[in-house]
This record gives sequence, structure tokens and C-alpha cells, in this order.
Amino acid sequence: MSDSTDLAAFPRDFVWGTATSAYQVEGAVAEDGRSPSIWDTFSHTPGKIDNDDHGDIACDHYHRWPEDIALMRELGTNAYRLSIAWPRVVPDGDGPVNTKGLDFYDRLVDGLLAAGITPNVTVYHWDLPQALQDRGGWTERATAEHLARYASVVAERLGDRVTQWSTLNEPLCSAWIGHLEGRMAPGLTDLTAAVRASYHLLLGHGLATQALRAAFPGARIGLVTNHSPVVAASTRPEDVAAATRMDGHINRWWLDPVHGRGFPADMRELYGVDLPERAGDAETIAAPLDWHGLNYYFPATVADDPDGPVPYAREVRLPDVPRTGMDWQIDADGLESLLMRLTDDYGIRRLYVTENGSAFADTVGPDGTVDDPGRVRYLEQHVAACARALRKGAPLAGYYAWSLLDNFEWAYGYDKRFGLVHVDYATQKRTVKASGRRYAELIRAHREGAATG
Ligand code: FCB
Repeated sequence: MSDSTDLAAFPRDFVWGTATSAYQVEGAVAEDGRSPSIWDTFSHTPGKIDNDDHGDIACDHYHRWPEDIALMRELGTNAYRLSIAWPRVVPDGDGPVNTKGLDFYDRLVDGLLAAGITPNVTVYHWDLPQALQDRGGWTERATAEHLARYASVVAERLGDRVTQWSTLNEPLCSAWIGHLEGRMAPGLTDLTAAVRASYHLLLGHGLATQALRAAFPGARIGLVTNHSPVVAASTRPEDVAAATRMDGHINRWWLDPVHGRGFPADMRELYGVDLPERAGDAETIAAPLDWHGLNYYFPATVADDPDGPVPYAREVRLPDVPRTGMDWQIDADGLESLLMRLTDDYGIRRLYVTENGSAFADTVGPDGTVDDPGRVRYLEQHVAACARALRKGAPLAGYYAWSLLDNFEWAYGYDKRFGLVHVDYATQKRTVKASGRRYAELIRAHREGAATG
């Protein structure tokens, strides 16, 4: 690790983890009773995914999980954030439970615990059973209720061993990218559908939180959301107003209702879509949580765009700034500022960075190693940003690098590699990259410092 990393800022019991999600790594899409999800449908629709890639095999983690746990041990991580595939557990969304699907997660959890790695389980990371989509998916209130029932099924099976839970991963992407921009499953471009989906996702979060608590009072439950700090491209009042709208769209719309402030009035007015509200929903959505998970990748600079799509603000591409292979701007200060906003503005008492990482065009060298200096630097800079936030009082309890493995990067397919471990998809050979080794070094150094400090 770079000498400048302030490892002493991290508490002794800090969680160092990696993250993945079911559809991105598991493969085995037709095995042991799994049904298709909206991502199977979407990825098999020609033209939706770069190179027409799909998750049929992915990293074959469904079969290779023991090897993947060995890799986690090699990195020295003490936690792993994974998601459960709803279509494995309740294949038609709300009907019979598929025991074989649960058996897989049972084995995985036992394997992790035996390796000294704490599982942090996400109930829903975008893979809605297609059967529910056929009945309206997230535009329907019933889907929120089905999520809660599915959450309790999972908790009843795993809750005796899993204490860290989150309900949803990045509901913003499900609603805005999946229903408004159409770049993710289910691929709709309909504002009314998107706003209704956003509402039902958050309602589902609240109902699932109640269900998890009822199943296991000791469960520590959080929500995982993705955010970007938003900066106006100029001091023009139009751009400043555009930045406020974008902040509402990607930040406040998701954080305010969960933290008891209700849906922001300015955004309700902007969307102009009636929310399907019922008495008691606001309290359900604001169910008390034990922690909040922040996924952070990049900041946003925006300008007014009166003729563009909601929220009438367009992202401005800054010249001469460092970027990843996704063309995402690299700005570790953005992570620090979001952690402070969650701490100071929303009063959150326990935070995790549940995802953070970078894609670069990695190549395997002639000697079989993968040298990825861009990702090493990204990791160092963002861990340093965590240290700064900790020094300023952020209650940050852990960091999960995205991702353990190169995997199916949604609409970008397999071309975009985020792993600390390289995957050769032809052979499924795993190779720890230089960034993985660097992460291991950092974790070891922190542990040694914590032991002597
Ligand atoms: C996040 C997703 C995750 C991964 C990263 C790169 O939006 O939660 O599954 O694809 O981006």
C-alpha cells in the first residue's frame, strides 16, 4: 500500500471485504430448479448487451465457490457481500419454495463461515423472477409484498448463521436505468412505470426489513444505495438548478424517504406522477435500520438540459480528468464527501462502503500475471478517502471492493473487468491481479498495526 495510506484511522475491527452478485457470477441458470429472471430475458434479447453476452455460465461460481472462497482467504478478506437469486429460491416469485436453491446458499454460507469470512447477504440484486415481471414487476404493489415473503423464506433458512443483511442493491438502477432509460432489465422507457417502480422498491425494502426482523430479531439490516455527489457545471442559475434536480433524482429521492423525510416535494412535482401511496407506507419505508451501504464509483457534473429527459440535467464530460475503462471519472474526494453527507446530513450511525472499484482493460502477461496499475491506484485513493472520512467522524465500519472476480457487467457484458481476480472465461482460470495482491497487503498491514497499536 502507498505509504500515505492512513491505516491507523481504521478501527481495529474494520471489515475488509469483496462483493459480487448472483446473476453476475453464478451461471448455472437452469440448474436445480432456477427459473428465468428479467436479466435472463434481457440478456438474451439481441442487441441489449455488448457482444450479446449473457449470464448463462458467467464465472461458474455455482460450481466453483469453494475455489472462490479460497481466493477470498488468499486476499485475507474477512467479509463477503453476496446476493441471493430470487428465481432460485422462489422460482415463480410468490409460489412454492425451491429447497435445492436454498441448499446452494446454505453450502456457500457454511463454507464462508468455515473460512472465517462473514457473509453480508443482499436479498435482491436486480434478478426479479420473470414470472413476476409478466405480472407487472415493480410497477405493481404486489411485487413489494412478494419480496418480503421471499426475504423471510431466505432468513428462515440462513438467519441462524447470517447476521448482516441488506434488502436491496441500488434501487436507483432498477427504477431509473431499468424503467426510464431502458439500459437495464426490464428495459422500459416509461416515466410513470419508473416512478411507480421506485416507490414499490422502497416499499419492498421496508416490508422486507420488517420480515427479516420478524424472522431474526438479531439480524443487522441495511439498505444499499448508489450515489454521486453532484456539481453544477457553472455558476449560471440554470446549471445550479439542474444540479439540484440531479441531486434530487439520484440522491435525495432514495435517501429522504428511507430516513423519515418523505419523498422530496420538488421531485414529486418534477416527475408529475402520482405515487401509489397508502396510509402507513411512509413509516414502513422509513423502518429503522442498523446500517447503510454506500456504493460509490464516480461524481457527476451537470448542466441545464431543458429539452432532455427527466431530470432535465445533462452530464458534462470534463476534459483532462482521470477516467476508468468505463469512462467514469475517478474522484476519490467524491467518496469522502458522500460519507460525510450520510453522516452529517442524514445522521447515519453505521456505514459501509458496500461497493467501490474500477474497470480497466486488463491483459494477462506472458508470465501469467495481471498487472493493473490503474486499479491499484484507484483502490489506494479510495481507501485513503475512507481514512479521511473516518478522521472526520464518519462511522465507517467496512469496505467491500467491487469485485472479487471479473464478471458479467450487465449491459457491458464481459468486456468490462472489475475484478481483483482475473477470470479467463474460456477456461474459468482465476488469477489474482496486482490490485488483489495490493488489497491483501493493505489488509495485512492494517491487521498487524491493529495488533500492535
Ligand atoms: C453497480 C452494481 C454492481 C456492479 C457495479 C460495477 O452499479 O451494483 O452489480 O455492476 O455497479
